[in-house]
Amino acid sequence: MTEVAAEDAGAGEPAASANAESIEAWSGPLFERFLQFRPIVSAGLGAHGEAAIAAHPPARGDRVLDLGCGFGDTTRRLAELTGVPAVGVDVAAPFVELAREEAEAAGAAVEFHLADVQNGELGGPYDYAFSRMGIMFFASPVAALRNVRGALRPGGTLCAVVWRRKLDNDWVHRAELVVEGYLEHPEQSDEPTCGPGPFSMADADTVSQQLQLAGFERVSLQRCDLPIKLGDDLEAAVEFTMALGPAGEVLRLWGDRAEEVRPKISTEIRAALADFERPEGVFAPASTWIIGARVPAASATSSRSGA
Ligand SMILES: C[S@@+](CC[C@H](N)C(=O)[O-])C[C@H]1O[C@@H](n2cnc3c(N)ncnc32)[C@H](O)[C@@H]1O
Repeated sequence: MTEVAAEDAGAGEPAASANAESIEAWSGPLFERFLQFRPIVSAGLGAHGEAAIAAHPPARGDRVLDLGCGFGDTTRRLAELTGVPAVGVDVAAPFVELAREEAEAAGAAVEFHLADVQNGELGGPYDYAFSRMGIMFFASPVAALRNVRGALRPGGTLCAVVWRRKLDNDWVHRAELVVEGYLEHPEQSDEPTCGPGPFSMADADTVSQQLQLAGFERVSLQRCDLPIKLGDDLEAAVEFTMALGPAGEVLRLWGDRAEEVRPKISTEIRAALADFERPEGVFAPASTWIIGARVPAASATSSRSGA
């Protein structure tokens, strides 16, 4: 596969820089935060990712593409399952570089490429495309899903896991309510945002329609409820919640201007999360959609002609 710099991906197309702000966020502040909280994120998302793989397992020998692969945990996992090298793509260079370094050190049979899933060159054809929380950040979801469909062979499978609504992820909702009591989502900020955001695919009807418009069939969304660990204790859970997710995002966008209210917010979030505390850590209910979809077997169109 030809490697393309994210900003060059799909050069000449008007949508080429549609995700520029999100790319900036993922390549900078969000990469730093994911790195800082990597053990919590990997373990928490890990259970939901495994449930998705169990619901739609790849076949032995499948050529796999992992979308928005981050550190590449799932790319490596899928390569183990299929027995053939898997490809991970991500739009943020620091994730790709670290994923490559770690895979090389471990001798894992994987490749990582820098590409915007929405309009980049994804290589292929693949038998199976997967994503754990990597497809909710596109300015144009249908265009991105079409690009994925174009990288899959006819009859190929898409399996993805995305967040369900905030109300069913109570730790997110509670923390956001606390922050909203002090700070509004700023209309302007010097900090880049991550685009539509983690909850942008929470509505099952919208996602089904997006997949159908992108040319997929046999679309299914299966609810998955599994608790995730927010930290070893309440202090760690508060730190995590104030760094990532909707509450963390508003605080990040306010930057230093939120310093004055941070201690009060921290105290209130601590109280809001207290009933999730157990002797072995803070565990909150978490709810995701496991998405399954298939490229029609007779499909002869490419992503480009369908775009
Ligand atoms: C929530 S993280 C999930 C990472 C990984 N899949 C995991 O489960 O640990 C979202 C990932 O999607 C990537 N991403 C966001 N927008 C993207 C785009 N347009 N194309 C490719 N990757 C993208 C981010 O850089 C980030 O690594």
